Amino acid sequence: MRRQDGWVSRLAWDHNEYYHRLLLRQLPARPQRVLDVGCGAGLLAGKLAARADRVDAVDRDAGMVAAAARAVPANVSCRCADFLLDDVPIGAYDAVVSVSALHHMPLEPALSRMAEALRPGGVLAAVALPRVDLPRELPVELAAAVAQRGLAVTFGIGRAVHGGGCHAHEPDSDAMPMVDPVLTTDEVRRQAQAVLPGAQVRRLLFWRYLLRWRKPLGDGQASSTTATESAGTSSTSPS
Ligand SMILES: C[S@@+](CC[C@H](N)C(=O)[O-])C[C@H]1O[C@@H](n2cnc3c(N)ncnc32)[C@H](O)[C@@H]1O
Repeated sequence: MRRQDGWVSRLAWDHNEYYHRLLLRQLPARPQRVLDVGCGAGLLAGKLAARADRVDAVDRDAGMVAAAARAVPANVSCRCADFLLDDVPIGAYDAVVSVSALHHMPLEPALSRMAEALRPGGVLAAVALPRVDLPRELPVELAAAVAQRGLAVTFGIGRAVHGGGCHAHEPDSDAMPMVDPVLTTDEVRRQAQAVLPGAQVRRLLFWRYLLRWRKPLGDGQASSTTATESAGTSSTSPS
């Protein structure tokens, strides 16, 4: 059993981190100020900081914020606050980004706040967990189960050869707050489109969805674009 636990943990990989590249591709060109909602230990915020002049990272868990503050570069400011209650600057951000945190919050108020925080033309991009939706999503669930194992071996070999990287879990991941998602991808899509007309929501392979919305530049100018998923990661466990 111990041996099996060892192999299981050695082959585990971080499905959230796997989708970071997808999120980074959603950023507008040369963003000045980006907000990371539910930043956890700051892994994504650190990557955003390489693309943006300034990153504000917010999380309501004090332990996570302390870990993030230790990990991020100087152009990231980490704040311990509940995003739904915090004083978020209005119209200040070129992008609002979030990974694996949106399903921790009531969707409609969270999206409204994110939209308020964006400047006109700014982009909201969030990857989060949907509730499993069977039998509708049976094909993608089966594909994910197979691909997850294949990539686990590939990434495990990569880590053994190169050490680190290859979507390894971060040291702080065990302490990360997790919840089971309440909404299916379809429910997220319907609610999101009611709050943010033009929002696009699509199921990703590894137990995540991508929600993307561009804030209209002016009255009636809502626009959204389709993102292309290039790589994949996930787990069946909540996060
Ligand atoms: C599963 S973790 C993901 C953390 C990080 N984004 C990552 O991918 O490593 C979800 C995070 O969202 C944070 N969170 C949940 N609800 C929040 C809220 N209302 N305001 C701020 N942070 C919140 C939790 O404290 C937790 O750190």
